[in-house]
Amino acid sequence: MSIIDTIRHNHDQLTRIRRDIHAHPELAFAEHRTADLVARHLESLGIEVHRGVGRTGVVGVVRGRGKGLRAIGLRADMDALSIEERNDFEHRSRHPGCMHACGHDGHTTMLLGAAEALVAHPEFDGTVYLVFQPAEEGEGGARAMIADGLFERFPMEAVFGMHNWPGMPAGHFGVHAGPVMASADRFDITVRGQGAHGAMPHLGTDSVVAGAALVQAIQTIVSRTLDPLDAAVVSVTQFHAGEAYNVIPDRAELSGTVRAFDAAVQTRVEESLRRVCAGVAAAHGVQIELAYRRGYPPTVNTAAEAAVCAEVAIALVGEENVATGMRPSMGAEDFAYYLQKKPGCYVWIGNGPGEGGCMLHNPKYDFNDEIIPNGAAYWVALVHRILAHTR
Ligand code: NI
Repeated sequence: MSIIDTIRHNHDQLTRIRRDIHAHPELAFAEHRTADLVARHLESLGIEVHRGVGRTGVVGVVRGRGKGLRAIGLRADMDALSIEERNDFEHRSRHPGCMHACGHDGHTTMLLGAAEALVAHPEFDGTVYLVFQPAEEGEGGARAMIADGLFERFPMEAVFGMHNWPGMPAGHFGVHAGPVMASADRFDITVRGQGAHGAMPHLGTDSVVAGAALVQAIQTIVSRTLDPLDAAVVSVTQFHAGEAYNVIPDRAELSGTVRAFDAAVQTRVEESLRRVCAGVAAAHGVQIELAYRRGYPPTVNTAAEAAVCAEVAIALVGEENVATGMRPSMGAEDFAYYLQKKPGCYVWIGNGPGEGGCMLHNPKYDFNDEIIPNGAAYWVALVHRILAHTR
């Protein structure tokens, strides 16, 4: 059987696996059932399995017919989100308040499909590490696997990722050379003034007016301090102060998010935020404290690997179905941590229309089972292309 026939032959079984994982979602670092399902499936295919990498992560090792020392990693994430599912189909979540609303059930399944096809078609030279990662949603499972020795125990020259993309035609691919997802930092600001009677503002220092000035001043960071050709977002998403009509509160609390595609821009925004806080504090005679927490770094594909991924996707689905000029997303992704250490590329696979709420992190979302063969076939073709037999 050809590679795509092997995968299509398994499509029904893979769909059952995907729906089973969807029905039993698990949150960050609690993917015990999912990890066990993955490990047992790999073992049933005769694949060497390492459990407990980065707590609930699983790594499968598939060796090609050629005994070369080269190796690459393919990564799928396994965790779900704290969302109450609002679908009513048979495979809806059995776990209240928890749902596969980002399609990681599909990512895991596509890599399992690839595993079976790679075992059936070991016509490559070297080793493939199948990286089933926990805790992509905010908890940095990639970082946990790296800290647990992922790259030392499973030395790989490059690492590859894939995420489904609603709104893009089913089974099409999007490949970015350079940034694909943004960094995501958080900040908390406390403004401390002196409370006063609402009728006697001159007897206090107003934390609300200072906070309002701060929100306005923060808007100048992107527009006035960054190169217009660099992209960033600074959003103040919370502003809490006061609880009475006639009291000027002594304290205001503001929080928000910062997004960027470049670490230097990220640093520049953080520095500007500190400067603006200090300036508004001086101007208004209040104290302002800023707590800035770095989250996921930007996800930046390396050009050479992106070129290979585009080539493989084009060979699979045709040039007209592979977008290489798409804009990156201001969403974030912990695949960024792998790309800080290794060359690699994270691609998007179209999940079909996003109508009816079938968008990422939406309670009506569902992974599109139709795209499983294309996703799995892409993985296999990528391995065969990069670890091609040298004659
Ligand atoms: Ni996701």
